[in-house]
Amino acid sequence: MWKNYRIIETTEELTQQLAQHQGTTRIIAGGTDLMVEIRNRKWAGLETVLDISRISGLDQIGRDENQLIHIGALVTHNDVLRSPLLREYAFPLVQACARVASPQLRNRGTVVGNLVTASPANDTISPLMAMGASLVLASQTGERVVPLDEFYIGVRQTVLRPDEYVREIIVPQLQPNQAGSFKKSALRRAQAIAVTNCCVLLTIENGIIQHAAITLGSVAPTIIHAREAEDYLVGKRLDENVIATAAGIAAQAAKPISDIRASQDYRSYTLKVLVEQALEEVRLGNQKESIPEKIATLDTKEGIQTHPAEGWDGDLIRTNINGQEYAIAGYADRTLLSLIRDRIGLMGTKSGCEEGECGACTVFLDGKAVVSCLVPAPRAHGARITTIEGIVAPDGELHPVQEAFVEHDAVQCGYCTPGFVMSAVKLLQEIPNPNRETIQNAISGNLCRCTGYYKIIEAIESASLKVKD
Ligand SMILES: Cc1cc2nc3c(=O)[nH]c(=O)nc-3n(C[C@H](O)[C@H](O)[C@H](O)COP(=O)(O)OP(=O)(O)OC[C@H]3O[C@@H](n4cnc5c(N)ncnc54)[C@H](O)[C@@H]3O)c2cc1C
Ligand code: FES
Ligand code: FES
Repeated sequence: MWKNYRIIETTEELTQQLAQHQGTTRIIAGGTDLMVEIRNRKWAGLETVLDISRISGLDQIGRDENQLIHIGALVTHNDVLRSPLLREYAFPLVQACARVASPQLRNRGTVVGNLVTASPANDTISPLMAMGASLVLASQTGERVVPLDEFYIGVRQTVLRPDEYVREIIVPQLQPNQAGSFKKSALRRAQAIAVTNCCVLLTIENGIIQHAAITLGSVAPTIIHAREAEDYLVGKRLDENVIATAAGIAAQAAKPISDIRASQDYRSYTLKVLVEQALEEVRLGNQKESIPEKIATLDTKEGIQTHPAEGWDGDLIRTNINGQEYAIAGYADRTLLSLIRDRIGLMGTKSGCEEGECGACTVFLDGKAVVSCLVPAPRAHGARITTIEGIVAPDGELHPVQEAFVEHDAVQCGYCTPGFVMSAVKLLQEIPNPNRETIQNAISGNLCRCTGYYKIIEAIESASLKVKD
C-alpha cells in the first residue's frame, strides 16, 4: 500500500514533510477516499502517507467577527451534522453532509478530503461553492486563499500544489435575507454517490430575488454554476412558474455523461426536478424539515480522548483492543481490518467488500463506529478499539442487542450480523430511545443482501426497550 506511514503531530511538521518529499507523499485524513484509491492502485509509487488525523486544532468549527465561518481540515461530515453553528448559518452544507455515505464513513471522512478528491459527484462542493466558500492553502512558503470557484481545473484536478495542504474552509455565514437548499439524487438513499446534486442559494429583499447562486454536481467535469438560471431569477418573485422556468434553464446548463450510474437523459431529467425541489423548499422555507433534528452519528467519543501518537517508530503499533494491550510489528502497511483478523485472530469482524460499502467490518475506534477496512492499521496506535468480541460481557453473557437479534430471528446470513450489532450497540449508547427513522439511518451503512431489514429493525427496537430498563 505504502512504504512509510508517518503520524504527523503539527502543521509545521506537515509542511516540512510536504516540501521535502514533493510528489511521493500523500496526506491521509479520514482515508475514506484515499484507501479505496490505493486499493485500486491509483497511487502506484506512493512512498509515504502523512496521517494528519491527530494534528490538534484542525478539527474546529468557528466564526469570526466578520461573520465568516471557519471549518478546519479535520472537520468530519458528522461534526458538521452536530454543529449548531452550521445548522443555523450554513444549512445547505448540513443537508449535503447528511447525504454523504453512512454514519461510519461520516465519522472518518472530512469535508476537506471531500473537496480535495475533486470528484464532480462529491456532495459538499455544490453547497460550499454556492455559499461562496474559499480554501486556505498552506505551505512552508506561506498561505494563499483560493475561492472554491477557482480551485477546480478539471476532473479530479485542483490548483493545490504538492507542497501545500488545505488548512481550512472559509465560508460567509448565511444572512437573514438568504436561504438555500441542497438536493441529491442517487440510486439508494444512503451509501450512494450522487447521480446528480444541486444547491440553490437566494438573497431575497421584500419578496424580490436580489442574487441567486445555483450549483450543479455530477453533470460536468467539475461542479458548475447554472449562470443563465441565476441571471433569470434576479428581479423575480419566487412563484411556481418562475421555479419551473428556472429549473428548465438550469438543466440546460448541464452537460452530463452516461455512465454506470445513470444515462445522460436521466441525469438531465433528475437535475431539473432537483432544482425545482430546492427552489420550492426555499419558497416554502421548510428546508429544516428535510433532515431530522438529531441524526445518529454512531459516535460517543465523549470521555474518550484520541490518544497522541507517542512512541510511533514507523512500525510498532501499540494499541488496546477490547481492553487488552497489544504491540504489533509488521502491520504498518495494512488495514485495521487485516490487523484485527489476520494478526490478532479476532474473526468476528468480517471482511466483505473492503471498500467501505457493506459495514461488515464495523468496529469502534476511540468511541466512534468506523469501517475497519478503510482505516490504516497504524491509526490504531495509541487508540482504543472495540470489536464484536468486546461487546459480550466478560462472563460470556450476550449484549441485549445480541439477545434481541436471536429472539427476533435477525441473525439471517450471519456474516453481516456482527456489523449490524456493532452499529446497533453504538446507536443505543448514543440515542437510547431511537425512533424507527433513526434506527434506519443508523444502520444505513450496513448492507443485507439476503433477506431484508425488518427483523433487524425489530430487534433493535426491542433491544432499545431492554437497554432503557
Ligand atoms: C462507500 C463510500 C461511500 C461514499 N459516499 C459518498 C457520498 O455519498 N458523497 C460524497 O461526497 N462522498 C462519498 N464518499 C467519498 C468520501 O467518503 C468523501 O469524499 C470523504 O469526505 C473524504 O474525506 P477523507 O477525510 O476520508 O479523505 P481522505 O481519503 O483522507 O483524502 C482524500 C484526498 O484528499 C487529500 N487530503 C485530505 N485532507 C487534505 C488536506 N487537509 N490538505 C490537502 N489534501 C488533503 C488526500 O491526500 C486525498 O487525496 C464515499 C466513499 C466511500 C468509500
Ligand atoms: S465496509 Fe469494510 S468490508 Fe465492507
Ligand atoms: S443478513 Fe447477511 S446478507 Fe442479509
